[in-house]
Amino acid sequence: MEIIRTISEMRTAVRKARLEGGTVGLVPTMGYLHKGHLSLISRATQANRLVVVSIFVNPLQFGPEEDFGSYPRDLEGDCALAAQAGADIIFAPAVEEMYPGKTLTQVEVALLGDWLCGRSRPGHFRGVTTVVSKLFNIVQPDKAYFGEKDAQQLAIIKQMVLDLNFPVEIVPVSIVREEDGLAMSSRNVYLSAQARSDALVLNGALQQARRLYGAGERNSAKIRQEMLKMIEDAPGANVDYVEICDRSNLQPIESIDKGALVAVAVRFGKTRLIDNITLTEV
Ligand code: PAF
Repeated sequence: MEIIRTISEMRTAVRKARLEGGTVGLVPTMGYLHKGHLSLISRATQANRLVVVSIFVNPLQFGPEEDFGSYPRDLEGDCALAAQAGADIIFAPAVEEMYPGKTLTQVEVALLGDWLCGRSRPGHFRGVTTVVSKLFNIVQPDKAYFGEKDAQQLAIIKQMVLDLNFPVEIVPVSIVREEDGLAMSSRNVYLSAQARSDALVLNGALQQARRLYGAGERNSAKIRQEMLKMIEDAPGANVDYVEICDRSNLQPIESIDKGALVAVAVRFGKTRLIDNITLTEV
C-alpha cells in the first residue's frame, strides 16, 4: 500500500491505474479508522481495481467551537488497518496541500443541510460538500463509499452528485455497531466509561421506534415523544434532535406511510453523537 501526500502524485497514481484498466473506488475519511470505515474499505475492494482511502481532517467542516484541533488522529495505525482491509493507496494531504490559499469557492447544497445536524452545526455541510468535491476532482473515482450513519451527509452528497453531474456512483454502506449496539464513531473515544454506557440509550430509543412502528404505530409525534422521554431520562444525555423524516428530502413527516429515517443527535458531556435507523414500508 502506498501513502500519497500530494495532489499531483495522487493524480499520477490514478492515471497509471486507469491505463492498467479497472475501476477506482474512493473511501473518504477523516481517519482514526474503526470497523465502520473498514467495512467501507472492504466493500470498495470487492468492486474496484484500485481502492483509495483519503484521510484528511477537513478544517472547513468544523465550527469555531468544535473539535478540529483535538479530533483524534493516528495515521500510522490507520495505514496498518487500511492495508489489512485491502486499500491500495492512502491519500493523506496536509491542510496546506488541500487549501493552499484563501478559499473563495465552496460547494453548497441548498435546503438539505439547513436542519437536523445543520441547525447546530452551521456551515458544516458546506465544508463537507466542498472537500468531497475536491476529493472527487483529485481522485476521479468511479465509485465512492459513504456510511449510512451520517444519513444527512449521504443524502446531501447524493444530491450534489446529481445536481453537479459528478461521474461517480455513491455507494451507501450500513452502520456498523459495537456488540452492545453503540454505532461506531471516531468520536466514541472521547466518551468516559459512564458516558459510553449512557450513550446506549441512542440505539435503545431507535429500537423502541422500530418496535412501535412494527406494532402498527404510524404517528411520528407519538414515536418521537416516546424516544425523547427515553433519552431525556438517561443521565448525562442532552438532546440536540430526535426527528422522523422523509428518507430522501429529510423533511419531517407526520405520518409514516412510506417508511422514514429516524435520526437522533445527543450530547454526552462535550461529545455529540448521531445515530439513525430506516423504517421501511411494510
Ligand atoms: O464522514 C466523514 O468522515 C467526513 O465528513 C468526510 C466525508 C470524509 C468529509 O471530510
